[in-house]
Amino acid sequence: MLAIQGIAEAGSGHPGASFSAAEIMGVLYFHKMKHRPSDPLWEGRDYFINSKAHSAPGFYAVLAIAGYIDTKEIKTLRKLGSRLQGHPVRYSERQKNHSFPGIEYSGGSEGIGLSVSIGIALAKKRDGEKNRVYTLIGDGESNEGQIWEAAMAASKFKLDNLVAILDRNKIQQDGFTEEIMPLDPVRDKWAAFNWNVVEVSGHKIEQIIDALSRIEKVEDKPSIIIANTTKGKGIKHMANNPQWHGKAPPKKHVPILLEELQSEILIAPSIIAGEPENYEEKVRRAERAGADLIHLDIMDGKFVPSTSFFADTIKHLRKISSIPFDTHLMIEKPINHVEDYIDAGCDIITVHVEACNETEFVDINKMLLKAGISPGIAINPGTPFPSWLIEHLDNIDVMIIMSVNPGFAGQKFIPDSLDKMAEIVKILKSNNYKGFIEADGGIDANTLQQVFDAGARIMVAGNAVYGSPDINSNIIQLRHKANVAIETKLLELATINDMRSDWIRSRKNMLIPLAKELGIEEDLHAIK
Ligand code: DX5
Ligand code: ZN
Repeated sequence: MLAIQGIAEAGSGHPGASFSAAEIMGVLYFHKMKHRPSDPLWEGRDYFINSKAHSAPGFYAVLAIAGYIDTKEIKTLRKLGSRLQGHPVRYSERQKNHSFPGIEYSGGSEGIGLSVSIGIALAKKRDGEKNRVYTLIGDGESNEGQIWEAAMAASKFKLDNLVAILDRNKIQQDGFTEEIMPLDPVRDKWAAFNWNVVEVSGHKIEQIIDALSRIEKVEDKPSIIIANTTKGKGIKHMANNPQWHGKAPPKKHVPILLEELQSEILIAPSIIAGEPENYEEKVRRAERAGADLIHLDIMDGKFVPSTSFFADTIKHLRKISSIPFDTHLMIEKPINHVEDYIDAGCDIITVHVEACNETEFVDINKMLLKAGISPGIAINPGTPFPSWLIEHLDNIDVMIIMSVNPGFAGQKFIPDSLDKMAEIVKILKSNNYKGFIEADGGIDANTLQQVFDAGARIMVAGNAVYGSPDINSNIIQLRHKANVAIETKLLELATINDMRSDWIRSRKNMLIPLAKELGIEEDLHAIK
């Protein structure tokens, strides 16, 4: 969001590459690297070398959120006299008017950053220091011969403290990489240069984290992560479109684009639904069909009337899948059991407000944050929003607003829960809540859009996914409904802002297949 605001304000910049590398940079700065925004030149820091440099607006946004600069400074992007130039400039006393501490490398001339990284990594290794060097390279950048000279040198020097990350979005300045200068089989090329090669989906945080921690164990070899990404990911009409390599969106589109970036819908199949047991198969199928999370309903037969499965089952499922686990504890006294679920490998753990008081909630919250797990809280249809939660909103990543009384899959959606959701969303917004709202219970192709409009972004779906045999089609159908819900909302916003036809023109390719459902056939015709 910061990147797009900066680019639109500047009237130029690189949105595509900022978005393809967003998760990569996010994981590095907020999960992996040792660094100190308050002491950017700290000797013990790990280095990030933004070799491709075209992702500058995204890079600045990450540095701003990390605390190196004020987020407001993003609006000075590419302005005369700004420290935020189109290509980042390495900080030094002499460069201090167009750079700031935290930037390690001046980018722009492609192909050089990997060599610089080798210099740093080699020096640190010779000095017996533990610092690690992470270098983001582009696939267009890989046309440069110097990348391959560096590739040879890094393995010669056995630089196991160097990790290159290839932002493999398959688009460079003038078109698709495979048409301009084919890079594939890129995996084999790096392996042939004697690098340890790992391939991930570069938008799946869990895969990036997993790859980075596996790499730490590799000795005597540099590593490269081939991160398969989508240029412009997050804004549908920019995604995978070479035109958006270096083009700014019109300023008046910004409010709609910001809305889109906050409208991503995550689908979370709940495996207690459908045929009993066979959880392994259910997880596998959901993952294959492109589910975003797996929703795991833990029921103890006391807090709710039924019993499902417990931490040992999750531990087992963790071994067969890396998809994020969204665990929903419908149990009495969660404080006594939460440790087991932390050990089992959950990514989100949600407890019910009805099952703990504020002190217990705070204790659970601390345990989860310490373990790097996203804390969630769930509220039943009949429970009023507890005012004590407001003070803790900063530490809550997921708020489940139940749309059925918990206990069973396949229940009927409670329509009143929509008002409740809207009411809670109002409280959350006015208190600057930044986490996700999750709708749980009776979500299907009909109710999805309603809860989306009320503010929900994670959609738990039990019966709608597992209630009939074709799980793949069921998930595709939910995804389709999610797209319709998002496009409807953006169109409404464009209409209110008096730019309906302008927006439809920019978005044409996305909207044509949905024209009928969106009721915009005539608008599209007028544009042609
Ligand atoms: C309800 C559970 C839900 C439920 C969802 O007790 O928390 O996650 O299984 O299933 P459907 O979508 O069928 O309501
Ligand atoms: Zn649930």
